[in-house]
Amino acid sequence: MTIKTVGVLGCGLMGSGIAQVCAAAGYRTIVREVEEPFLEKGMERIRKFLRDGVEKGKVTAEAEGKTLQNLSGTTALAELESSDLIIEAIIENVEEKTKAFAALDAIVRSHTIFCSNTSSLCITELASKTKRPDRFAGLHFFNPVPIMKLVEVIRALTTSDETYQTVFSFAQSLGKEPITAPDKPGFIVNRLLVPYLLDAIRSYEHGLGTIEDIDKGMKLGCGYPMGPFTLLDFVGLDTTYYIANIMFEEYREPAYAPPPLLKRMVLAGRMGKKSGQGFYKY
Ligand code: 3HC
Repeated sequence: MTIKTVGVLGCGLMGSGIAQVCAAAGYRTIVREVEEPFLEKGMERIRKFLRDGVEKGKVTAEAEGKTLQNLSGTTALAELESSDLIIEAIIENVEEKTKAFAALDAIVRSHTIFCSNTSSLCITELASKTKRPDRFAGLHFFNPVPIMKLVEVIRALTTSDETYQTVFSFAQSLGKEPITAPDKPGFIVNRLLVPYLLDAIRSYEHGLGTIEDIDKGMKLGCGYPMGPFTLLDFVGLDTTYYIANIMFEEYREPAYAPPPLLKRMVLAGRMGKKSGQGFYKY
C-alpha cells in the first residue's frame, strides 16, 4: 500500500525525532501532543536540530525548508484522521497506549497501519486491544532519532505479511536501516544493551573502578561512542529501570534485574541528563 500521510502521536524526545525524519523523507507528517506547551517544545527541538544542521553543513537550507513544510503540529487527535500510518510515541504505559489506539481506531480509515515505538511493551498485547491486530507492528527508533540509523521492526503474532512488508519498506524510505526483531522484551538491541548497562552499575557497586574509568575503559578500549554511565544518563535512569523491570518480569533471569543503586537513584530523582543529575552532573 502507498503511504502519503504519517501521523505521530507524542512530540517528546522520540516523537519529535520521528516526526522530523518522516517529514524529511517527504511524508506529509502530522504530530499530535496533548498540550500546546509540550507541542511547542517538541517543534522547537525539531527546528533547532535543523538550524544546527544547516550551520554544521549537514542539512541544506532547502531540506530544512521542505521538512518544515511537510510538518504540522496539533493538539487535536482528529487531525490524524487522514493518516495512512500512525506511529505512537507516548508514555510507556499499556493503559495509556491502549486508550490512545482506541481513540484513533474510532477516527482513522480501515487501511491505516498502527505502529508503536515502545521499547519494552508487548506488541501482540497492544495489537490485540485494537480493531486492527493484523495492521499493527512495532517500529522502534533509537535516540537521537535523526542521527541513529537503526530501526527495529517488530511483528506481533497477529501482524499480517503485508503490514510487515509495508512497515519495513517505510523504515527504509526514512533512510534508516531496519532489522526484524521478535516480539520479546527488549527486542534485539535492548535485550543485549540493558544487561550490559545493569552490569556496569553492579560492577561499580562491587568496586570495579570509578564511574569515569569504567566509561573511559569501554569508550577508548572498545570504541563505543559513550561509556555505559554516560549512556545511562543519556537514555535516562528511569527509562532503563522501567525496561529492566519489564524484562526481568518476563525472563526471570538475574541479568535483567535492576541493581539496588539504580532503583535508589530513580527514587532520588537522579534520572540522568534530563533531570540535571545522574551518574554525572549536567
Ligand atoms: N543535523 C544533522 N546532523 C547532525 C546534527 C544536526 N543538527 N547534529 C549532529 N549531527 C551529526 C554530526 O554531524 C555527526 O555526523 P558525522 O558522524 O557524519 O560527522 C553525527 O551527527 C554525530 O554528531 P556529533 O559529532 O555532534 O556528536 P557526537 O559525535 O558526540 O555523537 C551521539 C553524539 C550520536 C549521540 C553519539 O554519542 C552516540 O552515538 N551515542 C550513543 C547513542 C546510543 O547508543 N543511542 C541508543 C540509546 S538506546 C535507545 O535509544 C533505545 C531505547 O529504547 C532505550
